[in-house]
Amino acid sequence: MKNILVTGGAGFIGANFIPYFLNKYPEYEIVNLDKLTYAGNLNNLTEVHSNPRYHFVQGDITNRELVSSLFRQFDFQGIIHLAAESHVDRSIQDPTLFIKTNIEGTFVLLEAARLHWMQKPGEYKQDYIESRFLHVSTDEVYGSLGPAGFFTEETPYAPNNPYSATKAGSDLLVRSYVHTYGFNAITTHASNNYGPKQYPEKLIPIIIQRALAQQPIPIHGKGNAVRDWIYVLDHCKGIDLTFHYGQIGEHYNFGGNHEQNNLQIAYQVCALLDKLAPLSNRSSYQSLITFVTDRPGNDQRYALATQKAEKTLGWKAEEPFETGLQKTVQWYLKNKL
Ligand SMILES: NC(=O)c1ccc[n+]([C@@H]2O[C@H](COP(=O)([O-])OP(=O)(O)OC[C@H]3O[C@@H](n4cnc5c(N)ncnc54)[C@H](O)[C@@H]3O)[C@@H](O)[C@H]2O)c1
Repeated sequence: MKNILVTGGAGFIGANFIPYFLNKYPEYEIVNLDKLTYAGNLNNLTEVHSNPRYHFVQGDITNRELVSSLFRQFDFQGIIHLAAESHVDRSIQDPTLFIKTNIEGTFVLLEAARLHWMQKPGEYKQDYIESRFLHVSTDEVYGSLGPAGFFTEETPYAPNNPYSATKAGSDLLVRSYVHTYGFNAITTHASNNYGPKQYPEKLIPIIIQRALAQQPIPIHGKGNAVRDWIYVLDHCKGIDLTFHYGQIGEHYNFGGNHEQNNLQIAYQVCALLDKLAPLSNRSSYQSLITFVTDRPGNDQRYALATQKAEKTLGWKAEEPFETGLQKTVQWYLKNKL
């Protein structure tokens, strides 16, 4: 049995990842360390609550004492690091917590793992030779694209907002541990995830929430910022493959190969709701779409080249956007926000 630390497992991606991972690997025990900020929700993990191979610890990744004591108690052999402050708008209002959690928190985890697993730079302790730290990052560290082209794993970093800057900072700390200590870490970059269990401040759940409440659906600027959309379970499968088969120190991109601007997304969600939860007066939810002041410095377009993950990990985004969106909307209809 191997003990794996998952940080931020009560958040959107974590709450999709943990049940998938526990189910797929009967030889793993998972400890989910989560602070339960506004974004963490244990109700999204009910399917694993009673699983004897799942443990929850409420705590902060920046707490060195706690993290070290968990290493001693559970003797982790791997880390999947998801915990972060993740909402760009909040980072623009106040970056303080982003710097603390995303940069300092990643440092605390790296350092605890290094001390637990390694004898000295370049040398792992015998029992930890295969131990690995998987750092989950974002496409936003690469900056913004014009109408053409894709970010590859070689694209130079150019983060444009405090959120992406703190993710980039944490990525660089990971890089330095690989380079300096020969630490076994890998970094993944995903595009915009969508799916069940996401906190309703991100685009798709907020559209659903506002529509069902018959309140204005806020769309930044003219709604023409383009994002690539990946179904959350496809990202979870990418994390899994990277953790097991990725090369030390490498970066892997995971995108859904499905670019849409925000307005297109809003139209599609509204059209689905018109079908699945029609308004009694038969008008369309689209009439609730309201344009609001754009995010300052908003990136125009993100798109990821994913050939590296496809060729070297055998990964492929499997969920078509249409079915993924349908599953998502249906989940929110069942689990009223
Ligand atoms: N959602 C996306 O589209 C997306 C895309 C690419 C990368 N990512 C990255 O994936 C990771 C997970 O994203 P998400 O969408 O699930 O985020 P989320 O905001 O839904 O969840 C974050 C989780 O981390 C926890 N957390 C926050 N601060 C903590 C701290 N100091 N100590 C312990 N736990 C803490 C929260 O309680 C929450 O459960 C993040 O690192 C994010 O940058 C997300």
